[in-house]
Amino acid sequence: MSDLYDALRALLFRLPPEASHALAMAWLGRHRTAPAAAPGPLARRVFGLEFSSPLGLAAGFDKGECRWPGLARLGFGFVELGTVTPRPQPGNPRPRLFRLPEHRALVNRMGFNNAGAEVVAERLARLGPAPIPLGVNVGKNRDTPASKAAEDFASAARTLAPYASYLAVNVSSPNTPGLRDLAAAEPLAEIVRGVVEAAAAKPVLVKLSPDMDDAALEAAAEASLAAGAAGFIATNTTVSRPVPSSEPGGLSGAPLGPLALARFTRLAHLVRGRAPLVGCGGIFSGGDARAYLDAGASLVQVYTAFIYRGPTVARDVERELVRSYAAPAP
Ligand code: FNR
Repeated sequence: MSDLYDALRALLFRLPPEASHALAMAWLGRHRTAPAAAPGPLARRVFGLEFSSPLGLAAGFDKGECRWPGLARLGFGFVELGTVTPRPQPGNPRPRLFRLPEHRALVNRMGFNNAGAEVVAERLARLGPAPIPLGVNVGKNRDTPASKAAEDFASAARTLAPYASYLAVNVSSPNTPGLRDLAAAEPLAEIVRGVVEAAAAKPVLVKLSPDMDDAALEAAAEASLAAGAAGFIATNTTVSRPVPSSEPGGLSGAPLGPLALARFTRLAHLVRGRAPLVGCGGIFSGGDARAYLDAGASLVQVYTAFIYRGPTVARDVERELVRSYAAPAP
């Protein structure tokens, strides 16, 4: 299958990235239902939810088109939709998504293009309950001032909570001006309190940036936990450029891996088992996923590896991960 995808990828990579993405979404849209997911060898219970596999799809691939039936059939143990904002918005002008194939990376400045919370909620209601946990990642509209940001997060959360297994608070995208400033202790505490209240007992996770220093990470972690967050996702994309690219936006994929894992590891030390953690950033293989799990992750997510390894990525990484546990320690 991956040989087949190697050939298909050569074709897909001749198209502009968003055109390839639209084709993938259309292909995933063939399915309106997905069978119950049988627990795999690494199944686990986290945040009170059952995960058939610890490997999920990170936010941003499905920004609210709700292709979870097709994605669940590919073997993802969970899918995080979004980022969804209260009102629909078009995102930044194109081009806004760039491939760096020689580095197995992407740069994006999408800017939360999405259909808005009401429309996404209707889509989820129409599809009915999912056989895997569905996260919904929420954010603020671009034109909402910082002083009203918490209301945006709470409003999107209130509309989507009935259909979500968990909510994720995104204060880490680099493509909405001022959004990362909301990861400071005071604004973050207000946002998390509002989302926890709106979430009607669903777990609320906070997604952090790899560009935060130790002090910022600690402030964000403590403020989030005090405000009722159930856990963290680390990390989002980076504005740093470990590989050359002059395109503004967030870098994801292989070159993000070392930075994201280092920030994740720091976060794990700060949180010290007080809340489960989701590792994300540069995971392409079972070995990459294993590094996050060994550093304290309960779950892991991929995005960029889905583009480069194709539709078998969830099953392949899970199989590699299982094999890494079976192999004798080096
Ligand atoms: C993202 N990511 C993202 N994250 C988020 O919280 N909300 C979003 O809307 C998006 N949108 C988005 C679009 C695109 C094109 C990419 C490549 C990424 C970030 C994503 O969820 C993940 O945190 C990073 O991509 C790091 O993981 P990978 O890609 O290195 O596995």
